[in-house]
Amino acid sequence: MVSIAFAAAMLACGCAQTAKTMSTDFLQLATDRYSVRSFSSTPVGQDVIDLILRAGQVAPTAINSQPQKIYVVRSAANMEKMNSLSPCIYGAPQCFIFCYSDDTVVPRGKNGNYGEIDVTIVLTHMMLEAASLGVGTCPVGYFDPERLKAELGLPEGEHPILIMPFGYASPDAKPSDRHSSYRPLTETVAYL
Ligand SMILES: Cc1cc2nc3c(=O)[nH]c(=O)nc-3n(C[C@H](O)[C@H](O)[C@H](O)COP(=O)(O)O)c2cc1C
Repeated sequence: MVSIAFAAAMLACGCAQTAKTMSTDFLQLATDRYSVRSFSSTPVGQDVIDLILRAGQVAPTAINSQPQKIYVVRSAANMEKMNSLSPCIYGAPQCFIFCYSDDTVVPRGKNGNYGEIDVTIVLTHMMLEAASLGVGTCPVGYFDPERLKAELGLPEGEHPILIMPFGYASPDAKPSDRHSSYRPLTETVAYL
């Protein structure tokens, strides 16, 4: 992903056109990314996983509380469990589990907290960094969090929010019809 610091530096030194181009590149990346639902069995290397994790590490969270706990599922035995927990692993060789932790989450109002929002932003950073590295992903909510916790032995006080199979798209992978079906901005945006 384009470094925000770099883009800001470009603007500061008057290189507005360069910064604009960088921003357009990001929009292109965001537009081209799609939910991959057919993966090759080739695992993603640790150096690439580290970059994806770094993108999550720098994501904004409420007062920078960083309540995320991310599990990288990669053993054959645990991937088998993931496949039994969700029909939406799509042949991926590896999978992230995104949780937030009660220990670090920031409360919001009477009973709520920022955990789900924070974790979703972390996931989004990682999903887009993965796309920039040629790694396919699919954010998945179709699983039972309590079953997942039990099967994988996750501790009390950690809440799985989303899972995300990742890997290299198989040659037959393609975006679903929904990928490029957009509601018009006139419906989803209002100026006040
Ligand atoms: C919160 C959330 C939950 C999702 N859950 C699933 C899921 O359980 N299974 C699945 O195949 N895709 C899931 N998706 C992917 C969406 O279906 C997909 O992002 C949407 O249709 C737009 O397509 P695109 O990602 O290809 O642009 C989920 C996406 C989000 C943001």
